[in-house]
Amino acid sequence: MKTLGRTEKTLALAILLFFFAATLVQCKKEEESLVNWRENLGLGKEKVSRLHFFFHDTLSGKNPTAVTIAQAAMTKTSPTRFGAVNMADDPLTEGPELTSKLVGRAQGFYASAGQQEVCLLMAMSYLLTEGKYKGSSLSILGRNHALDPVRELPVIGGSGLFRLARGYAVAKTHRLNKTSGDAIIEYHVTVIHY
Ligand SMILES: *[C@@H]1O[C@H](CO)[C@@H](O)[C@H](O)[C@H]1NC(C)=O
Repeated sequence: MKTLGRTEKTLALAILLFFFAATLVQCKKEEESLVNWRENLGLGKEKVSRLHFFFHDTLSGKNPTAVTIAQAAMTKTSPTRFGAVNMADDPLTEGPELTSKLVGRAQGFYASAGQQEVCLLMAMSYLLTEGKYKGSSLSILGRNHALDPVRELPVIGGSGLFRLARGYAVAKTHRLNKTSGDAIIEYHVTVIHY
């Protein structure tokens, strides 16, 4: 094989250096754009909003809003229904009664993830259908130790006015029928968005 001559070596080195420098410039540019990312994305000032509503999870009757879509062989004998996955399209209302004003829907699933205790993994989007946030949704993903009177769920994102949202929901059991599993949960959501 022919070895490279001196000029060729210098040329190769120059080309390498050029690409190295070009990469550095590119990184610098991306860093700069991150400084003004809020403006660049057309987002306003960061603000905190608080939402309050009641969540109705109905498993019993002719028109359930939550249904079991999967379970394991052992789910039937498990005291915590370990392995069951429910899909829900639950109404969100202004007041505790189902007949009060509808303000949104919680759509998604929750799964029984605890073997020793009733513990759900929630993965749901909360779409608001009334008021200022109509058409915007929040994504809630996290652990729900459902039999505790009060628990906290993480808000990990959102859409519309809740784009890039983060926050938490405090969920408090308003009413629970332990036979049917029907529940009315009061939510206080604190959300940081733009
Ligand atoms: C609880 O659910 C069971 C089964 O659906 C029903 O028979 C009972 O009336 C309910 N209890 C209350 C207080 O609503």
